[in-house]
Amino acid sequence: MDSPLAPNWLKPPADTAGVDPKIFSSGVARDNAQLTVQGIGVSELVEQFGSPLWVLDENDFRSRARDYVEAFNAAFESLCGGVDVFYASKALLTVQVAKWVRDEGLFMDTASGGELAIALRAGIEPSKIGLHGNNKSDAELETAITKSLGRIVVDSLPELQRVAQLAETLEMTANVMLRLTPGVNASTHQHIATAHEDQKFGLTMTPAPGAETSAAYQAVTFAAGCPHINLVGLHSHIGSQIFESAGFATAATRMLEFIAQLAAEQIAITELDIGGGYGIAYTEQDDPLAPSVIANNLAEHIGAETDRLGVACPRISIEPGRSIAGPAGMTIYTVGTTKTVWVEFEGNHYPRRYVAIDGGMSDNPRPVLYDADYTAVLANRISEAEPVLSRVVGKHCESGDIVVNSVYLPKDIDHGDLLVVPATGAYGHAMSSNYNMLPRPAIVAVKDGHAREIIRRETYQDLFSREVDL
Ligand code: LLP
Repeated sequence: MDSPLAPNWLKPPADTAGVDPKIFSSGVARDNAQLTVQGIGVSELVEQFGSPLWVLDENDFRSRARDYVEAFNAAFESLCGGVDVFYASKALLTVQVAKWVRDEGLFMDTASGGELAIALRAGIEPSKIGLHGNNKSDAELETAITKSLGRIVVDSLPELQRVAQLAETLEMTANVMLRLTPGVNASTHQHIATAHEDQKFGLTMTPAPGAETSAAYQAVTFAAGCPHINLVGLHSHIGSQIFESAGFATAATRMLEFIAQLAAEQIAITELDIGGGYGIAYTEQDDPLAPSVIANNLAEHIGAETDRLGVACPRISIEPGRSIAGPAGMTIYTVGTTKTVWVEFEGNHYPRRYVAIDGGMSDNPRPVLYDADYTAVLANRISEAEPVLSRVVGKHCESGDIVVNSVYLPKDIDHGDLLVVPATGAYGHAMSSNYNMLPRPAIVAVKDGHAREIIRRETYQDLFSREVDL
């Protein structure tokens, strides 16, 4: 039944067993009623590796990574010789994942000393690593300088001065990109929009009232004149989970206009990073663009703008994270208990089914943090039962512990059934916690029909492992 409690975009599915290729990784199918990942049944995965379980379709991850490299290089080749694709490792990072990224020819964007340590441990060449962060520690900067990272993406004037000083003390040259805020208000959740003025990231391009130059301009002139800094280029990242090209285009225009202004003053900027943020489909309401479409749109825009401004096209780099890792991952949960509540709406009462699973906000805090929508399917069998409006909730001690806010699931879902929540590859494991002392699930990578653990499940012993006086 179509429930008035459901959001407008959600309709009861014609087939509750369906697997939407827009949302699920390419290796997911239905086989003998069960959901399979590259031919391996979800029941078999849970039997072998336990529940809940993060499953990563390695082939899908790799092919998405390759798609970005191929599409952007094809689109930009004649314009600027090609594009460096930096995988935004904050989306999902393990040593194995970093190796896949390296093998597929991508560079690596890190945002902390910890991410940097994992990238280095995976054997990624320092020249192919960038270090981000609005508040890097001296220790992080020192590592970045001594390892000669390809770029330290400097976020503020005081940080730039600290980098210069540290590099001088270390008798090194720091490769620096400057992160600017082009003033674009990206259409996404406020907590993941990053290029408008009133937020913490980046150097503003607008002079303060009464000032003649912007912080961005002051940083560029300082960096260009500093013997211990190699100014690699400029950077902007407008936000995350963005579907429209317009925001990226506006940001690129503002950056190129600034580059043209600097060129007129004999300051050559030869690289421009336009960040990541390409959206993915979490539910049927999302319509992401293919990398080739994004690449062609951006190349056309950047080509036209560099012509208009009479500047050479800088070498372009991008930083996709979610759109590589997200769709490749999924979470398998086991249903524990269910209940139905009756909710009043315009004078009538309608049922909402609560389906409680064995994980929750500790393995996926995104619904709590950003009101993010997800979907779920009954994965261990096919049911002919009527689809009912359901809410998939976790096992944490909070009523906000919701994994899927609204989804139609077969009415007979019961204890022991398996649910799969797709598109959890990005910012799931990456933002997971031990809230309520839940041990974190394992990550299993499936490649060419073979499954292996790349991160083992936490145990209660792990929960004691940092206690100092046991
Ligand atoms: N580059 C920079 C400088 C970034 O700050 C980010 C994301 C990216 C690239 C990658 O963006 P992506 O392609 O993954 O959208 N936890 C939030 C997302 C935070 C994104 C932070 N920065 C979420 O779960 O939606």
